[in-house]
Amino acid sequence: MSTVIKNGTIVTADLTYKSDVLIEGGKIVQIGENLKGDKELDATGCYVMPGGIDPHTHLEMPFMGTYSSDDFESGTRAGLAGGTTMVVDFALPNQGESLLDALKRWDNKSTRANCDYSFHMAVTWWGEQVWDDMDEVVNKRGINTFKHFLAYKGALMVNDDELFHSFTRCADLGATPMVHAENGDVVAELSARLLADGNNGPEAHAYSRPPQVEGEATNRAIMIADMAGAPLYVVHTSCEDSHEAIRRARMQGKRVWGEPLIQHLTLDESEYFNKDWDHAARRVMSPPFRNKQHQDSLWAGLSSGSLSVVATDHCAFTTEQKRSGVGDFTKIPNGTGGLEDRMPMLWTHGVNTGRITMNEFVAVTSTNVAKIMNCYPQKGAVLVGADADLVVWDPEKEKTIAAEGQQSSIDYNVFEGKHVKGLPRFTLTRGQVAVHDGEIRCEEGHGKFVAREPNATVNRALTQWKDLTQPRPVERSGIPATGV
Ligand code: URP
Ligand code: ZN
Ligand code: ZN
Ligand code: ZN
Repeated sequence: MSTVIKNGTIVTADLTYKSDVLIEGGKIVQIGENLKGDKELDATGCYVMPGGIDPHTHLEMPFMGTYSSDDFESGTRAGLAGGTTMVVDFALPNQGESLLDALKRWDNKSTRANCDYSFHMAVTWWGEQVWDDMDEVVNKRGINTFKHFLAYKGALMVNDDELFHSFTRCADLGATPMVHAENGDVVAELSARLLADGNNGPEAHAYSRPPQVEGEATNRAIMIADMAGAPLYVVHTSCEDSHEAIRRARMQGKRVWGEPLIQHLTLDESEYFNKDWDHAARRVMSPPFRNKQHQDSLWAGLSSGSLSVVATDHCAFTTEQKRSGVGDFTKIPNGTGGLEDRMPMLWTHGVNTGRITMNEFVAVTSTNVAKIMNCYPQKGAVLVGADADLVVWDPEKEKTIAAEGQQSSIDYNVFEGKHVKGLPRFTLTRGQVAVHDGEIRCEEGHGKFVAREPNATVNRALTQWKDLTQPRPVERSGIPATGV
């Protein structure tokens, strides 16, 4: 059974051209004119693009005394509804737990996925077992990215010697470390002071995590990665302070990538000053939303190339869950949703405003992600042989975002009331139509794990450079005898 997408314009990270796409066995088998297939999807007036890849989600994640509410079923359904065809979720080991045991739990959760997925492995503690497990995670389990939290003191946070050990191990294994860059010690101090002064509402969450804590931690992680000879991926870059560190590092030739979120690009800190406690608490996430200057910096990063991808950090909590922080903002579960809205919001506020081109849109929502995560061109490409993870994008289709009717299981949407223009007409996951003219036709369990090889080109180049420049004893003739 073959499917042909007809009459559309293919938009990739580097090309825009009219062509049909023929799909068979879940893969793209031909790109050309006047193609025929058993089934036809009409893409007249639409752009045919690689499906979105969200490099940062937390589905059914145990966090802050509860679990994030969207699981792999509802989360990937939300993604597909908005044109996203792959997610990369974080497997989190408990303190002292083996990485492989944590992975088993994520394997179980992900059996319900509607679209393909992969995992990043988090390093939440350090020891010989972690060092050992990392080899198996990379070489047997197909995971080449390791996440480190510099925030969440007393829970997920690791300190600098653990960071250096883990980054060095990543470098040796040809893997890429990632960081949540906020200075957890300073956040803990500021939080305690705010609470002591009677600042216990959601707005205090923003005060407790100023841009400086992010700038400091980003700089620190960049320097530590450089000393370890590893590349570095900085998640949820929210402000100029962090972006500036990434920009500078890239200009110095360091292999560093920054990942702004759609939330930080389009929502600002005024949300926390809303008189309605629920409204503000629903938007509590780390790092917090910033002011317009920081937003402008992030947009500039996308158009100039100093920031590489746009993610969601989808970590959805219900209003009820958020209310566990009434009277103490440090107990509000941190996280917001975005899987269904990332692509339409970025298209509307990026492409429709002229801040980014259509090709840059494809790059930051899909192709760059696949390249950095080393699953290109299986994913992130419209090429013969690639998986048929595609979105047929209708630039004229409009809607107003509302919690009512959304795929996410929570009871609100942080983008409520935002008007978007540019939505999927069809979303295909390995050739199977999951969104058909707005109608959701997902298949629970259709999603497969995407294994990602280590030693991507950037890792190889860094290893080569490290070998060339590593400390070596100087060969000397005529060394003076000791004790003379
Ligand atoms: O507030 C956030 N971002 N919650 C999810 C966990 C994380 O830090 O990414
Ligand atoms: Zn984070
Ligand atoms: Zn996250
Ligand atoms: Zn299937």
